[in-house]
Amino acid sequence: MSVLSPDFVVVGIGADGWRGLGEAVRDELRTATVIYGATRQLDLLSAVRGELAADLRPWRSPMSAHLAEVIDEPRPHTVHVLASGDPMFHGVGASIVSRVGAERVRVYPAVSSVSLACARLGWDLATTRVVSTVRNDPSEVLSEVTGGARVVILSRDEATPAAIARVLSQSGFGASTMTVLEQLGGPDEQIRRATADAWPHPPGDPLNIVAVECAGPGRTRLPGRADDTYEHDGQITKSTIRALTVCALEPAGAQVLWDIGSGSGSVSIEWLRADDRGTAVAFERDPERADRLIRNAGSHGVGSRLSVRGPAPQALSGAPRPDAVFIGGGLDDEILAGAWESLRPAGRLVVNAVTVENQTLVARRHHERGGTMRRLSIETAAPLGTMTTWRPALPIVQWVVVKPDTTIEDTGAAS
Ligand SMILES: C[S@@+](CC[C@H](N)C(=O)[O-])C[C@H]1O[C@@H](n2cnc3c(N)ncnc32)[C@H](O)[C@@H]1O
Repeated sequence: MSVLSPDFVVVGIGADGWRGLGEAVRDELRTATVIYGATRQLDLLSAVRGELAADLRPWRSPMSAHLAEVIDEPRPHTVHVLASGDPMFHGVGASIVSRVGAERVRVYPAVSSVSLACARLGWDLATTRVVSTVRNDPSEVLSEVTGGARVVILSRDEATPAAIARVLSQSGFGASTMTVLEQLGGPDEQIRRATADAWPHPPGDPLNIVAVECAGPGRTRLPGRADDTYEHDGQITKSTIRALTVCALEPAGAQVLWDIGSGSGSVSIEWLRADDRGTAVAFERDPERADRLIRNAGSHGVGSRLSVRGPAPQALSGAPRPDAVFIGGGLDDEILAGAWESLRPAGRLVVNAVTVENQTLVARRHHERGGTMRRLSIETAAPLGTMTTWRPALPIVQWVVVKPDTTIEDTGAAS
C-alpha cells in the first residue's frame, strides 16, 4: 500500500547522516516544508542546509507531548519527521502510525542500530533478543537474560552501560560479556568490551547500544519459579499452585491482567514473563507488600509493564479493563462482583480460595456461573526423623471461569 499524499513522512537516518541516505530519500527531504527531529538528527543535515528549503524544528521535551501537538494541529502541508535507524522499530514511526493510521504515513526506514550491532558482532538477528531502556529502567534487561542468550539493549544515554553492568552483576550474570557500540555506522563509531562485573569504562557517547553475551543460570519464562526468587513475607502463591494459576489465566498477546490481593506479585510477574506484550495491574492493600512487589517486578525485568494500585474494591474503578482477573487474596462478594463486571467478554477469571468460607463462596458462584472448580492439594517430601514423609500444603480450591462473549451473541442477533 503506497501512501500517495501522506500527512506524515518519516525518514530514518543513521549516524552517517546525509551520506547514508539514498537519492530518493534525499529528494523527499528536498521537497519538505518542515522537518521535525531530535537536535542530534537535525544536526546531521547541517552539511546540506543549503539544499533544503524546510524549516528544521527540534523536538521540545517531553517529545511525546510535542509530537501529540504536531499530530493534532491542522496543517496545510505534509509534515516530515527524522528518526534514527528504522522508525518502525522502537521508533517515532510506530508512534505516529498508532495515532493516525498507516494510510496517512509514509516511512523510509534506514538500517536499524540493532542490525548494525549484529553485523559488527556476527550475531544472528533472528535469535538476538532486544530490550529498550530508552524510557524503561535498566532492570528491564532481566526480562531477557538467561545463560547463553544474546541480548541487545537500546540505551537511554551514556550512563546506561554502567547501569546494565550493575544489574547483571547483582543478578548472577556478572560474567557476561558486554560490548558497547557507539555512533554505529558513523565516523565516530567506537566499540568497547569487558565483562559486566569488571566494567571499567567511564560513560562514553550517549548514542550507544549494549550487546550482552549472557553467562549465568538459565531463567525460564514459564510460570512456577521457586518461591525464594521472590521477596515475600509468606503472602505468596506457592510455585506449583502458581504454575497452574498462570496457565489457567492463559496469558496471550497484548492482554491486561488484574491481580487482586497481589502479595509478592509473583502471579502478575509470571503472567508478564510469559508474554512480553501483556500488562498487569496489581491490587495490594498493604503498602509494604506493594513496595516489595515493585522490587520483585524489577528483579524479574517486568517493572515497566506492571502498575500497582491500592485496595480492592475501591481501586478497581479507573483501572484499565482486564482480559483476565486473578483473585488470590481479600476475596469477598463485592470484589468478585466488581471484577466480573469489569472483565471483558470472553475474559478469564481465576480464583484461589484457601479458607472454607471463601471456598463456600466460590462453590456458590461456580454453581451459578459454571466454569471449572478443582481442589489442589500439594504434598511435598520432608524429613521425619531419619525417614521421609509427605507434608501437605493447605488445599486450595481453584475456580476458573470464562465470561460469556456477549459481543458474538449481539452480532448473531443483528444478522
Ligand atoms: C528510540 S531508539 C530508536 C532505535 C532505532 N529505531 C533503530 O532502528 O535503531 C534509540 C536508541 O537506539 C540506539 N541507536 C540508534 N542509532 C544508533 C547508532 N547509530 N549507534 C548506536 N546506537 C544507536 C541507541 O541505543 C538509542 O538510544
